[in-house]
Amino acid sequence: MDIEAKISELERRNLEADLGGGQKRIDQQHAKGKMTARERIEYLLDDDSFEEIDKFVVHRCQDFGMEKKKIPGDGVVTGYGTIDGRSVFIFSQDFTVFGGSLSGPFGEKVCKIMDLALDNGAPVIGLNDSGGARIQEGVVSLGSYGEIFRRNVLSSGVIPQISVIMGPCAGGAVYSPAITDFTLMVKKTSNMFVTGPQVIKTVTSEEVSAEALGGAMAHNSKSGVAHFAEESDQAALDRVKEILAFLPQNYREMPPAIPCTDDPLRTDPALNSVVPTNPRIPYDIRDIINSVLDHNQFMEVQRHYAQNMVVGFGRLNGMPVGIVANQPKFLAGCLDINASMKCARFVRTCDSFNVPLITFVDVPGFLPGVGQEHGGIIKHGAKIIYAYCEATVPKITVVTRKAYGGAYDVMSSKHHGGDINYAYPTAEIAVMGPEGAVNIIFRKELAEAEDPETRRKELVENYRNNFASPFKAAELGYIDQIIFPENTRPRLIKALVMLKDKKQSIPSRRHGNCPL
Ligand code: HXC
Repeated sequence: MDIEAKISELERRNLEADLGGGQKRIDQQHAKGKMTARERIEYLLDDDSFEEIDKFVVHRCQDFGMEKKKIPGDGVVTGYGTIDGRSVFIFSQDFTVFGGSLSGPFGEKVCKIMDLALDNGAPVIGLNDSGGARIQEGVVSLGSYGEIFRRNVLSSGVIPQISVIMGPCAGGAVYSPAITDFTLMVKKTSNMFVTGPQVIKTVTSEEVSAEALGGAMAHNSKSGVAHFAEESDQAALDRVKEILAFLPQNYREMPPAIPCTDDPLRTDPALNSVVPTNPRIPYDIRDIINSVLDHNQFMEVQRHYAQNMVVGFGRLNGMPVGIVANQPKFLAGCLDINASMKCARFVRTCDSFNVPLITFVDVPGFLPGVGQEHGGIIKHGAKIIYAYCEATVPKITVVTRKAYGGAYDVMSSKHHGGDINYAYPTAEIAVMGPEGAVNIIFRKELAEAEDPETRRKELVENYRNNFASPFKAAELGYIDQIIFPENTRPRLIKALVMLKDKKQSIPSRRHGNCPL
């Protein structure tokens, strides 16, 4: 074969691989509103930056007539490239090839990418669109999944790992996304479940659609498995870029700061009246968050889940920060099981990747209830303590209103390593709210009072003025400064600049034993 023939063979083979499962299946993919594996990569990565590897890998299965059905690439497109000029590694499952199902060689391709990402300290992005284990391959496929999971675990906290679910993701396949830092789902076209509707019907007689069981909103609002629900493939891929912009390439690096065009000294007089003086009246904590962040831009994470807790990313003077906040608009901002898990996970994600934490506190306490107690609020609430106490990134706290009881301690208090702890004049920091405290401390006096209701009101007012204020805590140095709300942004930025070279270490050990 002469050189021209060899070159044209390479061209032919490249074209064959580019077509994956063929034009008909590509058309079917488009008809479902989905991009193909290659289109997704092209959309996500910088122009012409994608370098594919293992394009000609095929499976080695000899059973069920598979030896006659070989498609170059074998159902997954893998390689590396850049996003906004920064290196990333990517695998994109190709549903047009055997339903994107995972064979041994498919798994080897994914593992090769994951190893390269880990060795080179760059994020790995997995685009999932697959029928799961390739049934014809049996245990070979299961072994491959296991190899992927192990790499997910070893990469955890070393490099960012992002999973986008853009089609089916069933069976044990769900456990790779579950270990990664962020899971995004596309509405209507994606689903995730360990056992699907058919199996559930057989085993428990429950009837449920795939969408209701494991669609984007099920996992974004009910299970908390996913962090984002996006309208389309494109929107999900845009979100991946947005997330990466807040994260470093690996845990050894700082998250990327950008030049800031929003005045760091910008004040906002509206903040002086954002917290209602009546402690029973709710407000939206996002009004404060949006006000202080650069250009009022806040990227909320897990927006639909445990809405009594708000978490997400933004920038202060160009520096990425993680925001954690109680949300008085939902459940009065109480801490419950779901909010605890959401908060702890996010705090650990930020700490893994050197993202400073800004915590806004307005929390009346842990949610009372038999369901909460039996559901393990003790161990789940402890996750917040664990996450904040082990976090060594800069931690700045602002108590806007209530900080009662154990909830005061857990929300990035001084005692849990808060570096700078601010409070608004509206803050109420105490063991419990005035009504509860008065009922306990003055039970006898109230029982004997001539006019118990008038006396109760007096005592409540007295308690509120003297104890449910930020001043007791400020006298003790538990609050570093009581600030005017309008100055929140400049105060946060100054503290952040002061803390930018913070170095702190925690005792060495094999690893901590976080309550799970
Ligand atoms: C081999 C598969 C496959 C699989 C799909 N295909 N899933 N081939 N192994 N797991 C093939 C189909 O046979 C079909 O090939 C093509 O992909 C497209 O599939 P369709 O069924 O036509 O597509 P659709 O109607 O969109 O349905 C998609 C689907 C369905 C919901 C994913 O295919 C499905 O239920 N597949 C099986 C899912 C499953 O049970 N997987 C194993 C889970 S257990 P042809 O040539 O006919 O077009 C698991 C364990 C992991 O993953 C354990 C890790 C520890």
